[in-house]
Amino acid sequence: PRLCLGRDFFLEKIMSEISHNWLNSLPKIELHLHIEGTLEPELLFKLAKRNSIQLPFNNISEVKEAYQFSNLQDFLDIYYQGAKVLLHKQDFYDLTWAYLLKCQEQNVVHVEPFFDPQTHTSRGVPFETVVNGISEALADAKEKLGISSRLIMCFLRHLSEESAIETLKFSGQFMGVIYGVGLDSAEMGNPPEKFQNVFNMAKNMGYKLVAHAGEEGPASYIWSCLDILNVQRIDHGIRAIDDPDLMLRLIETQMPLTVCPLSNVKLRVFDSMKNHTILDMLDLGLCVTVNSDDPSYFGGYMTENFLALDDSLGLSKDQASRLIKNSIDASFAEEGRKQELFNLLNSYITNQ
Ligand code: ADE
Ligand code: ZN
Repeated sequence: PRLCLGRDFFLEKIMSEISHNWLNSLPKIELHLHIEGTLEPELLFKLAKRNSIQLPFNNISEVKEAYQFSNLQDFLDIYYQGAKVLLHKQDFYDLTWAYLLKCQEQNVVHVEPFFDPQTHTSRGVPFETVVNGISEALADAKEKLGISSRLIMCFLRHLSEESAIETLKFSGQFMGVIYGVGLDSAEMGNPPEKFQNVFNMAKNMGYKLVAHAGEEGPASYIWSCLDILNVQRIDHGIRAIDDPDLMLRLIETQMPLTVCPLSNVKLRVFDSMKNHTILDMLDLGLCVTVNSDDPSYFGGYMTENFLALDDSLGLSKDQASRLIKNSIDASFAEEGRKQELFNLLNSYITNQ
């Protein structure tokens, strides 16, 4: 019997290695990723030293210990504190490049990162320092790694609409590199309606529109994003499952939801991955996608998010490929690039 147990253990290890390799090499698309949320503890310390900034942690294990959150606000407090080490263009470049190397490792071939300009401008870091650092890394990734991208600027919803409008006006000179606007930070008490004017202005400027909604906030915030902000994607959106009429609307219009499984468990939106509803939503016909949100804080990048779904819910190859097809459909890539992405996905699936 001991021999049998050993053999089962061994077989299980091989099976898990095979699914890890399959999911890691599967061509993937990332549509919900905060670039400030990719700051790994090692880079946090390196930049703190480079910029002579005092951190409230003495070592990497103290940082990791602090990454226990009971809700979104708990996380945001640590996340905004971490961002204080980012001062110069090179810091933003290094941050973005480290993320893009991770993408290359995990075969993430198209990305649409968010950045939060107000987190930096409020500390005196010029808008152009932030945008130039990030966008130069994205341009290098296109050239050297073949990773295409669309950059999205988010407004912090705990701040005023006036501050968002000022940020939007400033962004006008970077319309060549910023493709869309989004809305993030503390959701409860900061409904989409608060940003109706700035989203309307952004639409008139030609920006694509997305917004976080239904992460901690109610399904009604998702309705408002659709009907008042006129967004083209909902970030998170998992609370839609509370509202059957909204579910029907999302299915009929194929409105994309950029879901972030590991984030949802870390921020206690679901008490365990076994209770996550993403695959139920997929099988009901919603355009759900898998994303990593703030991977340095939540325990993993794209591959780890797919693996977590597989471990806890059993992810079929067909479900995995439909999730990625949804991401391609939902992306802001130009039509020719979308076709390339579909071809990459199809040849991977059919050659397996
Ligand atoms: N900013 C970074 N990550 C976020 C999230 N998950 N929700 C809202 N704002 C965020
Ligand atoms: Zn997010």
